[in-house]
Amino acid sequence: MFHLALLYLLAASSSCVHAQQYISAPSYPSPWASGGPGWDEAYAKAKDFVSQLTLVEKVNLTTGTGNQADLCTGNTGSVPRLGFRHLCLQDGPNGVRYTDLNSVFPAGISAAATWSRSLLRRRGLALGEEFRGKGIDVMLGPVVGPLGRDPAGGRNWEGFSPDPYLSGVAVAETVKGTQEAGVVACVKHYILNEQEHFRSGISSNLDDRTMHELYLWPFADAVRAGVGSVMCSYNRINNTFACENTQALNYLLKNELSFQGFVMSDWGAQHSGAISALSGLDMAMPGDGPRNSYGSYWGGALTEMVLNGTIPQWRIDDMALRIMAAFYKVGRDMKRVDINYSSWVNATSGPRYFASKTGNTTVNQHVNVQGEHSSLIREIGAKSIVLLKNVGHSLPLRKPSSIAVIGEDAQDNPRGPNACVDRICNTGTLAMGWGSATAEYPYLIAPATALESQAKGDGTVFSNFKSNWDLPGARAAVGNASVAIVFVNADAGEGYKDLDGNLGDRKNLTLWNGGDSLVEAVASVNPNTIVVIHSVGPVLIDHIKTHPNVTAMLWAGLPGQESGNAITDVLYGRVNPQGKTPFTWGKHAGDWGVATLNATGIAPQQVFSEGSFIDYRHFDLAGIEPSFEFGFGLSYTNFTYSNLTITPTNGTAYQPDTGKSAPAPTFGVVDRNASSALAPKSFPKVPRFIYPWINDVNALNSSGSGTVPAGSQDGSPQNLLPAGGAPGGNPGLYDIVYSIRVLITNTGALPGTEIAQLYVSLGGPDDPKVVLRGFDDVELSPGQSKEVVFAVTRRDISSWDPVTQNWIASPYPKGVYIGTSSRQIMLHDNLSRDILT
Ligand code: NOJ
Repeated sequence: MFHLALLYLLAASSSCVHAQQYISAPSYPSPWASGGPGWDEAYAKAKDFVSQLTLVEKVNLTTGTGNQADLCTGNTGSVPRLGFRHLCLQDGPNGVRYTDLNSVFPAGISAAATWSRSLLRRRGLALGEEFRGKGIDVMLGPVVGPLGRDPAGGRNWEGFSPDPYLSGVAVAETVKGTQEAGVVACVKHYILNEQEHFRSGISSNLDDRTMHELYLWPFADAVRAGVGSVMCSYNRINNTFACENTQALNYLLKNELSFQGFVMSDWGAQHSGAISALSGLDMAMPGDGPRNSYGSYWGGALTEMVLNGTIPQWRIDDMALRIMAAFYKVGRDMKRVDINYSSWVNATSGPRYFASKTGNTTVNQHVNVQGEHSSLIREIGAKSIVLLKNVGHSLPLRKPSSIAVIGEDAQDNPRGPNACVDRICNTGTLAMGWGSATAEYPYLIAPATALESQAKGDGTVFSNFKSNWDLPGARAAVGNASVAIVFVNADAGEGYKDLDGNLGDRKNLTLWNGGDSLVEAVASVNPNTIVVIHSVGPVLIDHIKTHPNVTAMLWAGLPGQESGNAITDVLYGRVNPQGKTPFTWGKHAGDWGVATLNATGIAPQQVFSEGSFIDYRHFDLAGIEPSFEFGFGLSYTNFTYSNLTITPTNGTAYQPDTGKSAPAPTFGVVDRNASSALAPKSFPKVPRFIYPWINDVNALNSSGSGTVPAGSQDGSPQNLLPAGGAPGGNPGLYDIVYSIRVLITNTGALPGTEIAQLYVSLGGPDDPKVVLRGFDDVELSPGQSKEVVFAVTRRDISSWDPVTQNWIASPYPKGVYIGTSSRQIMLHDNLSRDILT
């Protein structure tokens, strides 16, 4: 009998759910890295390196030196004896945070709206190049947690889409691009940090099937893509904190998904010393923690715990090995440059060690890492725009006689684009949300600026009315314009700070700054009103969609620094819109079927009772008509679909992984003489730095280590899991079982790109109506046809079976739906059942 990955206990007699009913079952020991596809060379190099380290040197790699202690967002200790500089970790994920001469990229949600693997890959590569140029080892991104269960979730925009397949493709391409540039990617936040309210205490409670089919899915893709690090999140999962959740870290991530890199804590998400180490945490960030004599759960405390036997040598070796394997995997040993900026100081000179204000030196060399990325940012910005409505060929614009640009969201922030720290304001045009995912703009092209310059070239009369609140003024400004373009927005961010009562999560799904009234005012007098929305996710806009004077609507997401140029490219047809919405637009706040939990108590219980029915899966199940469905987006041209063929491919039968791991390896020898773990005499310690040395050879239990969970120290061979076997899970899951072909033709008059989408119905009574399982961007000139081939994998047609702890292709009849959105299906057929499952 297999051990259930996540215990899901629901009281049979009552719908009332108590905290103790959701329990995360323990899983020990923490699996040790073993190399494997894509990791063998890095593993060998890491093994050589770690074998030379002393205990304190190993510990130094695992523990941050403290908040703001050194130059980067996160800083580990170093190994000076071997000339190894400390590791530098930096936010992420939309640009290099806290520096200058960097780019600001379209946010994750906009990148996802391109549905373009190649653009996602190029974005990942460009991000990686910028991080590399600043001397950073680890980019703290991309994000697939939150996935986007709650449309109001404050950080959804940092990630890609509430659809796990689209998120999975996007995260994999981003990871590959970033790591190709020689920077370790860190996929975050693992896992179920789906809202900002109570993020540090909330328990996200869910069942094993939902975990696998929804939330874990994109993390599996990240692991399969070779991601070097994973950040565990603030929240609890079934009542155990994510950074000491053995089900999440040991069982799912390191065993089932065979993750070979390292797990770091989110900042302050570590809550224990020995327990987190035995639960699979490999790096503590930013390092400082409790008020013990080390100021840390780890550092010297971890050294003590190894010396007193609480933490076996194999576990500390595994931590160090995983960290170094990630380092070598992306070629950091060949590509490292000096850290040439400080996160905490803008001036050229200042304290190297900011927390203690010591070590004055040149901290900012102002290295320009922007390369040619502005053109890619503009391209992604334009290609992520979703054309939601276009009546009577209102768009593209062709030298209109006059345009009136209306609204704050079209303007510069009068105090500059970086005036608000971490973008915690919504002044001027919105091109990113707020929080740790922000970066400083090198510049921000406001829509009004770009449209004015276009108008000048065209001989169009241009006017610009900036206020959202002076409605008579807005009406007067658009009365005679041949086109009125109204810009509106909705913001969200990270919950360490609220903005206008929005504690990260949005308090409602309406437009900000009176956007609804502004649109109404403009559309009441101008029969050719175009509405552009910059937003972090869906907003309630059905009244705009149905307004007869609104001739066009566009969702321009969070486009980054080239915002104005990108929207102008689309409005004027230089780029034919191809974006598709990566989430569903409901008509009412209740349409999504979930709400932000507002509760009190130490561990508020957020029960994911909807299972995997979030976003379009919920709308389909509940029969709710959205304003715009998942995958929707118009073009200036037309496409037809024909010639659907489905070919089962001769795969091999699915083999569950069996057998046992090798025993836990150790690397080098731990000197058990505790005096070797004391700081060298007269070492010039940096004040407030966290070091790996112990305080006292006679007090090796000072950190409170002691009894540990059964099995947690066991380094003997362990059972492998049936769904495991290689990074990302059982390799058989990725066998192609069907090849599906369809012909797409551009029947319109303009060149354009269609995003062809493949949905599958898995057919069971508990399955969603359809799930996305393929997409491709097909560029076509007028009259041209191209064949699209969708490679459907075994995973794509399988469901998670909690009993066997494996994926199975159920016996239910399965259908294939090819379309231009989740609801506009052009072709349909059934899948034959003769494949080997
Ligand atoms: C907390 C955020 O949740 C995380 O995303 C970020 O990387 C760290 N802070 C460091 O800024």
